[in-house]
Amino acid sequence: MPERPAWWQRQVIYQIYPRSFLDTSGDGIGDLEGIRVKADYLEWLGIGAVWLSPIYPSPDADLGYDISDYLTVDPRFGTLEDFDALLAALHERGIKLILDLVPNHTSDQHPWFVESRSGPESPKHGWYVWRESGPGGSPPNNWESYFGSPAWSYVEPPGTWYLHSFDRGQPDLNWENPEVRRAMQDVMRFWLDRGVDGFRVDVLWLLSKDPELRDNPVNPEWNDGLPPWLRLLRQNSEDGPRAHEYARLLRSVIDEFPDRVMVGEVVLPPARAVSFHGERLEEVHLPHNFALTELATWRADEIRTVVREYERLLPPGAWPNWLLGDHDFPRIASRVGPDRTRLALMLLLTLRGTPTWYYGDELGLANAHFQLSTMTVIDPQASTSPERDRLVARTPMQWSPGPHAGFSRVEPWLPLASDDPAFTVERQRESPDSVLNFVRALIHLRRRTDALSIGTYRSLPAPPDVFSFERGHPDGAVQVHLNFGDREQEIGVPLESRMLLSTAGAKAMDAPDTPRVVMQPWEGMIISMG
Ligand code: NOJ
Repeated sequence: MPERPAWWQRQVIYQIYPRSFLDTSGDGIGDLEGIRVKADYLEWLGIGAVWLSPIYPSPDADLGYDISDYLTVDPRFGTLEDFDALLAALHERGIKLILDLVPNHTSDQHPWFVESRSGPESPKHGWYVWRESGPGGSPPNNWESYFGSPAWSYVEPPGTWYLHSFDRGQPDLNWENPEVRRAMQDVMRFWLDRGVDGFRVDVLWLLSKDPELRDNPVNPEWNDGLPPWLRLLRQNSEDGPRAHEYARLLRSVIDEFPDRVMVGEVVLPPARAVSFHGERLEEVHLPHNFALTELATWRADEIRTVVREYERLLPPGAWPNWLLGDHDFPRIASRVGPDRTRLALMLLLTLRGTPTWYYGDELGLANAHFQLSTMTVIDPQASTSPERDRLVARTPMQWSPGPHAGFSRVEPWLPLASDDPAFTVERQRESPDSVLNFVRALIHLRRRTDALSIGTYRSLPAPPDVFSFERGHPDGAVQVHLNFGDREQEIGVPLESRMLLSTAGAKAMDAPDTPRVVMQPWEGMIISMG
């Protein structure tokens, strides 16, 4: 248990995809002012920190993750003054603000790249990864981008290839170049000086590559059912020899300022992902843990194993974190189905560690269905893998019944996930049994119960379909029982226990008067031990 827990250990982090939260300017795209006017909602919900996906100017090759200026706000989202006003509104309510930092690549329209591509004489040429053609005019090596197709594009001038781990509009910066590293540290200082509480670092594990840029080996297990980006083993194109040095370098800037946090996107097998905490915890405070996004079946034993394995791998003293998804994954409600959504949300909010929440999950929003051919905005990933269109989970937040669910006065940039007024904040606030009120009750319970926010974790014996665990704390322990099966289950509970919350609503909250409780299919409950 942390002796003096930091804010980022106790609180729920809420991710907002800015263009989809609330449009106040009337252009169909969400903006910073829209987030500011919803600060009361965020406080009401009980979250402790907001993580904003990129807010910087971007030509949108990858919808904000291709940045053309790190030091200001995209005019579609507002101005730096709007940013300051948002930050102040959140801080007044005790809510922290975390920005997305994208240090691996810029936009191809960033002035650094424009200057770099003018040729080898340019002082910025070495800021990106330029190489001559391979044999027969082929790309310099066999690396593939995450969006399919070669990770190299040829441009003339300078008549050479540049590396891009994602879209061709996202050239990779050359992190071997100390000037690049210093420039990115200065970007961090700019925002930290302005008062942001930390960063979520995009694709942190990609910054370091094999210095010789050797070919990647072919993945012997690849088949057509797997995404194209798994065709090669990414042995040389990422998690290279200096990956941890670069993580420490970013962290050193975070540590120049009091009480800030560094969250890192590290999509690697768990053992390698947790290594980004650093041997002496001098790297990332919270390298994202994607284990729950990879669950195939959502069976109790599978989840128990995932939790045990992650807890086992964490370096001593490292603080865990969990998420069910983010802007890159299908919605949790679509992955587990409406019957099990509350159970999955209860899992996220009761495991030991900082939960990262994805906006809209508190309404039980599901994936949108739209036809790519009718879309004006396309996810670059969908161009090569239409079935992996990430926009299905980036749809406008649904505030109230009526036109465009109160998101915008004009047609939003993306269609809504659902036209049903039941999937709006307004309707769900009025309904005691809604997903929203359930989530809010759970978040507030978590805030006032040390066992849930910072307590220890211990798995408990349970019937086969049930995942049970205890969160321990000197001020009182709680038990969490999660029935992932489609049948009733009877579980034993201590007689003096008290039901704190159930996914099955108020009627399930009667104090247990026997040492056995019958759980409904897919019910989850939290019990106080005294
Ligand atoms: C990870 C981000 O989460 C994703 O949305 C983006 O496409 C890539 N990094 C590239 O920046």
